[in-house]
Amino acid sequence: MEIIREKAYGKINLTLDVLGVRPDGYHDLKSVMQTVSLFDDVQMCVGTKRNWELICTTEGVPCDEKNLAWKAARLFFEKTGRDPEGLTISITKRIPSGAGMGGGSADAAAVLRGLNRHYASPFSPTELADLGAEIGSDVPFCVLGGTMMAEGRGERLRRLPAMPKCTMVLCKPDFSVSTPVLFRKLDQTPVLHHPDNDAMERALQVGALEKIAGNIFNVFDPVVSAEHPQIDHIKSIFVQTNAAACQMTGSGSVVFAIMPDASSGKRAAEELKKTYSQVFCAEPV
Ligand code: C5P
Repeated sequence: MEIIREKAYGKINLTLDVLGVRPDGYHDLKSVMQTVSLFDDVQMCVGTKRNWELICTTEGVPCDEKNLAWKAARLFFEKTGRDPEGLTISITKRIPSGAGMGGGSADAAAVLRGLNRHYASPFSPTELADLGAEIGSDVPFCVLGGTMMAEGRGERLRRLPAMPKCTMVLCKPDFSVSTPVLFRKLDQTPVLHHPDNDAMERALQVGALEKIAGNIFNVFDPVVSAEHPQIDHIKSIFVQTNAAACQMTGSGSVVFAIMPDASSGKRAAEELKKTYSQVFCAEPV
């Protein structure tokens, strides 16, 4: 029996634009994605000689083949033709679920990376990311991580200069958002404002944090804010604590902020914790 450990980092979308609906029902996106230091622990035990199992004590996380981590392992062994002779996946969750932080995708990506390493890298990083696309749109990014421009369904990736070090605060309101429902809602809503992805890319190239902050925008943010006043409430606390920028990530509901320094980050987190139970400090990875 052997144990494989891998960290599964969450992501935020510094920009997120939806360009249109495709014939296959998915949407074409253009998004600058960023890995953040909030992570789940994924541990795999191969050769257990028992049926596959998935252990996770967080409420709402499926502990069977519906979990993306399970799907990732199944796909890996299908593609390699190997048999692990029993597999137990244990996940310690820290990334909130239904949050727009790609938590399930991060776990799946960690399974792919961990198994690939354990079996002497049958796949290159790019091949592993392509494999991830069969599991979910965010999985390829989560396999590679860092700072990237994502296009297509999210699987066409181009590495960008790393985001400068900074303090981020993330806050999950008390509701979650269904991604497919939100995409359908966006299809019926006129989109008045789009992010300037070129400007974001230029800001990353020169490493200017204030310009990066100035270009943070997600087309889903106004749609979710219109229905859930908690988004604006969280933002008002970020504004009071001098955030350089704040915005919802992905399909929500987490709102993240870029803070000018660690002490204002601490102050924002303390203020938010008076109302919200899921508040995290993080940095770009
Ligand atoms: O790929 P994934 O299973 O993570 O996507 C979840 C849902 O989000 C899809 O079923 C689809 O409704 C929506 N989606 C989309 N366009 C994308 C990514 C996701 O419409 N590019």
